[in-house]
Amino acid sequence: MSKKKKDKKLTMAQRADRHELYQESVQDSEFELDFVQDTYKDIRKKKPVTLREDFAGTSRSACVWTKRGKDNRAYAVDFDQEVLDWGHEHNYMKLKPKQRERVELIKADVLKVKTPPVDVCLAFNFSYWILQERKDLKKYFRSVHRTLNDDGIFFLDGFGGSEAHTTSVEKHKLKGFTYLWDQNKYNPLTQEMQCYIHFRFPDKSKMDKAFSYTWRLWGGHEIEDLLYEAGFSNVRFYVQKFDEKTDEALDEFEETRVVEEHECWIAYIAAEK
Ligand SMILES: C[S@@+](CC[C@H](N)C(=O)[O-])C[C@H]1O[C@@H](n2cnc3c(N)ncnc32)[C@H](O)[C@@H]1O
Repeated sequence: MSKKKKDKKLTMAQRADRHELYQESVQDSEFELDFVQDTYKDIRKKKPVTLREDFAGTSRSACVWTKRGKDNRAYAVDFDQEVLDWGHEHNYMKLKPKQRERVELIKADVLKVKTPPVDVCLAFNFSYWILQERKDLKKYFRSVHRTLNDDGIFFLDGFGGSEAHTTSVEKHKLKGFTYLWDQNKYNPLTQEMQCYIHFRFPDKSKMDKAFSYTWRLWGGHEIEDLLYEAGFSNVRFYVQKFDEKTDEALDEFEETRVVEEHECWIAYIAAEK
């Protein structure tokens, strides 16, 4: 049987690539990097040049960073060889040779990795919530603090509100597939949560549990306390705005320490060295 005919017999889920779907549904590197650049510039009055992407997954943000400036340099750190290999083939190899010279994909544990100093370090999409013990999260924040240049800034994110402290499934219809964020289990005592990403396709096929995360739902104040204990000098929260009429999340983040919306908040956090 020819490859084409064989492929036709496969369902859309069988033909799909989970990392590609993740990049399309979860990670908006362009938006994140705009936020990082603009916020760093607001605070430090200059442009950041060097960046480390922790929990890098497919290393997408690190690769996009090198396209944004001829001096930009990036390090992507993840301890999973499979996802790094995917990122190498689909993101790194698509860069121009000169850009490739300025990005390094590193297989390592973020708690142990040593990289040259950087202006900005990123831990996005709540990935650091895999660190459930206070001592581990503090150790991680300390190591980021050491890695940053004197005027470096650590960017991370968080979410919360009453809806976060429960189980739920959020559905997003995207081009060619549906993305599901499944907060499958929640222990209100320890704040441990079990989440999954599933994908659904128009031919009714499914990719269940494409990604699985066991996290501690850290609170904003707890994160802030640990950042200060790790040595950061100032911590800022930038909370996402919602449209007052439609209740839809907007692409706008406002620096504040007060959240009016009780059901749900989502924020970028910037910790200055
Ligand atoms: C949800 S993905 C994040 C992908 C991407 N950075 C983003 O913002 O969407 C989380 C990644 O963290 C990696 N990871 C988890 N714990 C880690 C650790 N201690 N050191 C390095 N990588 C880790 C996993 O292998 C996984 O690829």
